Amino acid sequence: MARTIAVSGSASGIGEALAAMLRDAGDTVIGIDLRDAEVCADLSGPEGRSHAVERTLELSGGTLDAVVACAGVSDFTVLPVKVNYFGAVALLDGLRPALARAGAPRAAVVGSISGTHPVDAAIVRACLDGDEDAALRAASKVVEAGAGNQTYSSSKSALAQWLRRAGVTPEWAGEGIPLNAIAPGVVRTPMTEPLFADEGMFKIMNEAVPMPLNGYADAAVIAEALRWLISPANSHMTGQVIYVDGGAEPTLRGPEVF
Ligand code: NAI
Repeated sequence: MARTIAVSGSASGIGEALAAMLRDAGDTVIGIDLRDAEVCADLSGPEGRSHAVERTLELSGGTLDAVVACAGVSDFTVLPVKVNYFGAVALLDGLRPALARAGAPRAAVVGSISGTHPVDAAIVRACLDGDEDAALRAASKVVEAGAGNQTYSSSKSALAQWLRRAGVTPEWAGEGIPLNAIAPGVVRTPMTEPLFADEGMFKIMNEAVPMPLNGYADAAVIAEALRWLISPANSHMTGQVIYVDGGAEPTLRGPEVF
């Protein structure tokens, strides 16, 4: 049966691949992105987030079968905290009532293997407290100290922790809404193009994300995994972060973590 699914980050990379796959299967996709989307909105701030939620509710008629928060940025500024954490959580929280009205609702986010890398504890704590001002102050300090790469890892770690907490609450599990993440390793998309183009960054990336199984992934590989997470078949998995990363996570964390 055709479903109505909201996908943020639908204009590029993984979100674009997922949106195309879902449309090919006959679903209605409400894409949310800065541009080239059914809903053009900037998820880095409160106004854009509210607009994204309101317009998506209008276009869906108030009921959504699934929501995928895929939009993200990877740079050494405070922006990853705004978009990857607060943008994703605001979208999911804002659209949750529309999910609760569907017969077999599903929600997913795109995390990252980076969520297992070193993080800044103050950023993560402030994110989980829902205190964006404090999170951005902590992120600014980290950037000033020259550890800007930790704004991205912290945003993705906080997102994973948020969904593990939220997934089992009355608002999500109690309403029958599975909430999970796919955490990719390195995926060939416009986001990673600069890393492939720079010899130094390329080396750092390969050391940080070892992928013994089949190397770098295409966006379609991650989209397929997301597609299953949000399918009616996924009735009993929630609060999970699924690493689709060529084996990076067990390589980095070892066999004792599971
Ligand atoms: P991409 O750069 O191809 O696509 C990201 C999309 O998000 C773009 O269309 C962009 O316009 C949108 N976006 C960015 N900021 C936004 C904002 N403020 N408001 C609304 N939309 C915004 O990147 P890719 O690779 O497809 O990334 C998708 C997700 O996958 C991101 O959350 C990223 O962190 C995650 N990821 C990507 C990996 C990779 O190797 N490419 C690895 C691990 C995670």
